[in-house]
Amino acid sequence: MAELLKKLWKDEEGQGMAKYIVIVIVLFIAIAGIIVVSGCGDDGDDAIDCTCSTLAEVAGQTGFWVGAAIADSEGDLEQKTIGVHFNSVTAENAMKWGSLAPSVGQYDFQKADALVAFAAKRGVRVRGHVLIWRDQQPADLEAEVLGADDPEARLRALLTEHIETVAGHYRGQVDAWDVVNEPMDRYGAQIDNNLFYQYLGEEYLDESFRRARAADPQARLFLNEYFYVHTPTDERVVAFRALVKRLLERGVPIDAVGIQGHFWGVGELPTRAAFEEMLSSFTELGLEVEITEMDVSRNYFPHAEDPFAEQAQVYADVFAACRTVPGCIGVTTWGMSDISTWLDRNEPFSNYAPHHPLLLDTNLQPKPAYYAACEVLLGCR
Ligand code: XIL
Repeated sequence: MAELLKKLWKDEEGQGMAKYIVIVIVLFIAIAGIIVVSGCGDDGDDAIDCTCSTLAEVAGQTGFWVGAAIADSEGDLEQKTIGVHFNSVTAENAMKWGSLAPSVGQYDFQKADALVAFAAKRGVRVRGHVLIWRDQQPADLEAEVLGADDPEARLRALLTEHIETVAGHYRGQVDAWDVVNEPMDRYGAQIDNNLFYQYLGEEYLDESFRRARAADPQARLFLNEYFYVHTPTDERVVAFRALVKRLLERGVPIDAVGIQGHFWGVGELPTRAAFEEMLSSFTELGLEVEITEMDVSRNYFPHAEDPFAEQAQVYADVFAACRTVPGCIGVTTWGMSDISTWLDRNEPFSNYAPHHPLLLDTNLQPKPAYYAACEVLLGCR
């Protein structure tokens, strides 16, 4: 090689060309050297740093929301977790109609305001949950409607007033609202025959979203629902998607779909591929999508040698499915740690407690599921 270079360099006739070739070769060797030293172009694992600092930090860096629901009674748990492990919060109960107004029209925003102020202090996002829902309503809502001369008009007025009052109160402070929760029948594949549907028909959804948009034009507006089977072809998913399409066709201002994701120990666990297809089937409609209430009971794996490793795989699958689908913007777990989960408190799930379904254990230590989720966000899993 050296002999050849010397010869080319000295070659009188082709001197210009020879020098040119030598310069190109030297440059090539130099650039290759720089690439090797900097590790750039290395296809090995050391190209990516797979160390999880904290979930909130990694989520923040990758433009993703990892949230937790905060219950009313959790003392200073949120001080240790929100903004550290989670960059988004949802009020587990405090923003529900019956919590804000135990009796129709009697609003008390104290608890919910405290949560929103805390979130602002920590610099985390707030998901508003929920404006209109069949459950956890003011104790006298139904009697108030049924007792009115014109129940339909009364219910319409109450729905309007509630949305304007609450979404107006938090205008600019809440990034997203679950405008309507669980519009589907509890078990079936048809729309739920709740009080709103009985008097206002399917248009109660249109009305709710329009009022929410007017009250807080910046907030992302969600329709939130749970499913038993997480595939795009499941009957309940198909019926829900048809409902969403009808809303879009009517020009209803809906921005996103929330998939709750409660895996409480009974029913099918999701597979990554089917979950991904299901999420895509909503983003293909031009909507965003988010997993809004995830938990995975340890009870799915009673005989596993390491149930928490199995649980971690389910979390990894859901996070990975969401990361893969453009327009899937985050995952919120329904609780901050295994110290407190609605599955251990609420029937019928509490009959199978303890569920240990979340990302932090009862000592607030990150579980395998936490690291699995983090590794997915880092691109390492
Ligand atoms: C649950 C809360 O976690 C409980 O504390 C409360 O007693 C009942 O509601 N789907 C939802 C949530 O959309 O609002 C529910 O939250 C859980 C199921």
